[in-house]
Amino acid sequence: MINVLQPIEEGLRILDQTQLPHHEHYLTLTHVDDLTDAIRRLCIRGAPLLGVAGAFGVWLGIGDLSRADTRQDVFWPSLQALAENIASSRPTAINLRIGVQRALKAIEPLRDKSADTWREQALQVAFEIMKEDAELCARISENGAVLIRPGMGILTHCNTGSLATAGIGTALGIIRRAHQEEKDIRVFVDETRPVLQGSRLTAWELERDGIPCTLISDNMAAHLMQLKRIHGVVVGADRIARNGDTANKIGTYALAVLCNYHRLPFYVAAPQTTLDLSIASGSEIPIEERDPDEIRTVAGHPVAPAGIPCANPAFDVTPASLITAIVTERQVYYGPKYLFT
Ligand code: MRU
Repeated sequence: MINVLQPIEEGLRILDQTQLPHHEHYLTLTHVDDLTDAIRRLCIRGAPLLGVAGAFGVWLGIGDLSRADTRQDVFWPSLQALAENIASSRPTAINLRIGVQRALKAIEPLRDKSADTWREQALQVAFEIMKEDAELCARISENGAVLIRPGMGILTHCNTGSLATAGIGTALGIIRRAHQEEKDIRVFVDETRPVLQGSRLTAWELERDGIPCTLISDNMAAHLMQLKRIHGVVVGADRIARNGDTANKIGTYALAVLCNYHRLPFYVAAPQTTLDLSIASGSEIPIEERDPDEIRTVAGHPVAPAGIPCANPAFDVTPASLITAIVTERQVYYGPKYLFT
């Protein structure tokens, strides 16, 4: 298993995913601002892993605040503000907010205790979320592998593996499991522009595991479906609305449309916590807009006229009607009429 994040004496040690696949470089995050910066820069990413990171953020934040002023009327409002700052650093991924809130809720009843106790409690919550996520990934993978037919050509988008979760992954977990079950699958990984989570991260993970895969650029999926080499798509999710509309990495919606046209299954895999029951449909999901330089460059190299206007939404919403099934740790929900309550 890849050691993506780990608390150490000095703070939180994380694998800097922006440096992959060429360098396995670790960062030590001492303060909560180091963590929010690392989250914004995608050094650490993927919805379930952001949930874990959020709780560790509260742990780091309590350390920072307790060095300043622990008077109740100063400390608690500051902690609330700091928690909101972590939660909003990636606005689409609901698990980040859930991780932060879970750590805050756990320390609420301990208000009359010391800052050390609050810190200890936040750390414990972070470990709990981490352990739970590993178990959820295993269950999602088991449930989802049932949908994978022997010999199937499966395309996956972005990165949903051990770099995006605390376990074997969600969509990538299903692929791992199907491979383990010797289903003789053909895995296709698309690059996932603009920041290439597919080619840099997913291809790296699969290669490490000895799972053969074929890398394609984002514009090749339709062609390979037409040639009947890709027989279905499996992706993760950053947030799922009550009606099943799903926000995931930009480009996901296009793949769902392609599957629909070619009559191929389109599967979404995510823990139940990614279901945001407060949201009726996908139109209410906030979509993170990122730095236009991610579009003007490839791996830091300019590929467009400097300053050319760009749109850079990091996620899109796939309507539930295009989703064949949503796989969670509980069950496989068959579409299009999802109603999660
Ligand atoms: O911008 P990223 O790399 O955090 O986007 C990640 C995705 O879109 C994943 O598909 C999603 O978070 C699910 S990870 C199991």
